[in-house]
Amino acid sequence: MTKVAFIGLGVMGYPMAGHLAAGGHELTVYNRTAAKAEAWVAEHGGNSAPTPRAAAEGAEMVFSCVGNDDDLRSVTLGDDGVLAGLAAGSIYIDNTTASAGVARELFATGKERGIDVIDAPVSGGQAGAENGALTVMCGGEEDAFARANPVIDCYARSCQLMGPSGAGQLTKMVNQICIAGLVQGLSEGMNFGIKAGLDMDKVIAVISKGAAQSWQMDNRAETMCKDEFEFGFAVDWMRKDLGMCFEEARANGARLPVAALVDQFYAQVQARGGRRWDTSSLMHLLAND
Ligand SMILES: NC(=O)c1ccc[n+]([C@@H]2O[C@H](COP(=O)([O-])OP(=O)(O)OC[C@H]3O[C@@H](n4cnc5c(N)ncnc54)[C@H](OP(=O)(O)O)[C@@H]3O)[C@@H](O)[C@H]2O)c1
Repeated sequence: MTKVAFIGLGVMGYPMAGHLAAGGHELTVYNRTAAKAEAWVAEHGGNSAPTPRAAAEGAEMVFSCVGNDDDLRSVTLGDDGVLAGLAAGSIYIDNTTASAGVARELFATGKERGIDVIDAPVSGGQAGAENGALTVMCGGEEDAFARANPVIDCYARSCQLMGPSGAGQLTKMVNQICIAGLVQGLSEGMNFGIKAGLDMDKVIAVISKGAAQSWQMDNRAETMCKDEFEFGFAVDWMRKDLGMCFEEARANGARLPVAALVDQFYAQVQARGGRRWDTSSLMHLLAND
């Protein structure tokens, strides 16, 4: 049993922390909106703390899953932050999708205090978090990863060390770049099929057994054809992630022409009230133009 703290009980963090508790670890949770922390403790046991620092005090490992870089800085740095509460020799694992820059910044601050920091963004969505079947992409040092890996396994189907600090976030960026172009392609295909008068259930059943198969097709094509977009990863989050990809690409010279175009389509989805729609809502623009 490890003494663990979890910061940020949102759509992802709440079930992830639940899997850590179910794995036999002793949990202290913190959430900015305290009612969620109270609900979590009522469901899973353990304790809640009034600040990230208080949650981290006495913990061997601290996990977090908050929104963006600014949110991450606000729960980690400063007098009430996680790093002020953690003792030397402990590990901080961040599951937020954030920039590689902030990951390296926290790694360096942790090092000065003898704390190992691992960036560990996840893929697999709300369902993956609820089923404890996330893919976790880590950046950090091998020793810390080897100690954290068995604990991360409580909510993961796959967990890999991708390289030094920031490598987890860079891997997640590759994931998001691949998804952006793929979802637009899938939307165009589905919209074309509908306009051509095809039976889309049959089309999906056939082509999902061929070279066009993808996770997006298996999990979203049917709902896209029904104009339903309430299935997880929100457009607002995707635009945040693509923004980080563009920033990184400016520095490393990679060209992202299709991702940039798709980002503009997502801006249109937002303008139509779809900020919290899932990312397959690119289809809505084609179907309703
Ligand atoms: N949802 C998905 O399918 C998915 C999939 C993969 C990766 N992710 C990534 O995982 C992260 C979390 O996503 P989510 O869907 O769980 O988001 P969410 O439901 O909006 O939860 C965000 C959590 O962060 C907390 N938080 C935000 N800003 C904070 C701040 N400044 N100080 C303290 N706490 C703060 C929120 O507290 P309150 O309760 O007080 O608001 C909440 O607990 C994001 O980086 C997202 O990109 C999400």
